Amino acid sequence: MSPSVAPSLSHAERFARLTALLAESQPLWRPLPFQHRASPWGEASLALDAALLALTEDEAARLQDAPFTDSPLAEWLPVAKLEALSALPELKGDGRALPAAWAAHVGGRKWSQIEAFLPRVAAAPEERLVEWCAGKGHLARSLSRRGETEVTALEWQAALCQDGQRLADRQGAAVRMAEQDVLAPEAGRWLSSETHVAALHACGDLHARLIELCAAQGSAVTLAPCCYQRTAASHYRPLSQGGREGVAAQGLSLTREELAMAVQETVTAPRHVRVRREQAGAWRLGFDLLQREVRGIDAYLPVPSLAYGQLPERFEAFCRWAAEQKGLALPAAGIDWSAFETAGARRRAEVRRRELVRHLFRRPLEVWLVLDRALRLEEAGFDVELGTFCARELTPRNLLLRASRRADHG
Ligand SMILES: C[S@@+](CC[C@H](N)C(=O)[O-])C[C@H]1O[C@@H](n2cnc3c(N)ncnc32)[C@H](O)[C@@H]1O
Repeated sequence: MSPSVAPSLSHAERFARLTALLAESQPLWRPLPFQHRASPWGEASLALDAALLALTEDEAARLQDAPFTDSPLAEWLPVAKLEALSALPELKGDGRALPAAWAAHVGGRKWSQIEAFLPRVAAAPEERLVEWCAGKGHLARSLSRRGETEVTALEWQAALCQDGQRLADRQGAAVRMAEQDVLAPEAGRWLSSETHVAALHACGDLHARLIELCAAQGSAVTLAPCCYQRTAASHYRPLSQGGREGVAAQGLSLTREELAMAVQETVTAPRHVRVRREQAGAWRLGFDLLQREVRGIDAYLPVPSLAYGQLPERFEAFCRWAAEQKGLALPAAGIDWSAFETAGARRRAEVRRRELVRHLFRRPLEVWLVLDRALRLEEAGFDVELGTFCARELTPRNLLLRASRRADHG
């Protein structure tokens, strides 16, 4: 299958094919390479593992950034199918640029995202606009100014509402910041068949709630979802009936932690952050080898994460900190720190290559999750468009769902 074939698929068909592919590939993407001392796929994939380990630094970095492009792993993995099924078109906007002056008080990257998102909010003139999980209502202000219309912005933090209201009043934008927990039972009162909800980067349960309320009340919606793993449920339960049937039939199951794989593609961090992150990763793997030896148990031991800037200066200090976290007594003398540090660095290079297998499934999983949201709304009688709203360099969470209830549907 070539990448150009899949865009013509219906959402249901694309979802079904992705469900099957994700389900049959579970043994490939589920194992976390950093938890394993050797290949996490066992005897069955020795050739794949050897090919991964043979990748040069440059080739591994290239595939990390563009997992589908000229992948030497295509011999063993369904690279072309994954690429085709996760390729979505760019959704068209109205092409009207926003005045630069409206960017005042908005962070540079967030403003660029708003510039890309807002022209794609195709609200009908008679629809009342609502922003969902609005923060300070940056999107709401521009929506209001562009449409010369009132926008209600829902946000549960009182301080953000106050700041947002001040900004809107100062700029003469007709925004009403409303303090509202969108998960509370009464949140549905803001939605009706006459509203259009805009939600830029609303997390897991917050956007799932929005979808459910739109389905129930008939509100139109333009949503860029993010952080699918921010959910109260420990295991993913598809929103759509088709999704629930699909996962049951195919035996696909996803924990909350596995949902995070869909959003692990991050915009490249500055070099000094990357270097430090690599160092932390290598030290963790070095400590892992040490703890296996000290405990006499050849099994991975999770160590809490450290905020950026908290990493000790030296490997030994890191190991002593990690051991303390785990209540592990390290011998006072006789540890060859430099040998463990070197082994950790070697293992880090291997893990980075083995993680390329999971990278291949990140975007397909994200697209699968968005398709589930699309199907939920289609099942409720909505027309749904899915696509991208900006380049992934601006934000990797660049998928957009646009939906409105079909006129012939109650
Ligand atoms: C990821 S931010 C998105 C903010 C804004 N849309 C943007 O793109 O910058 C999520 C926002 O949701 C708000 N939020 C979190 N939980 C909420 C809830 N239960 N009800 C309403 N707002 C909530 C947070 O306070 C935060 O302002």
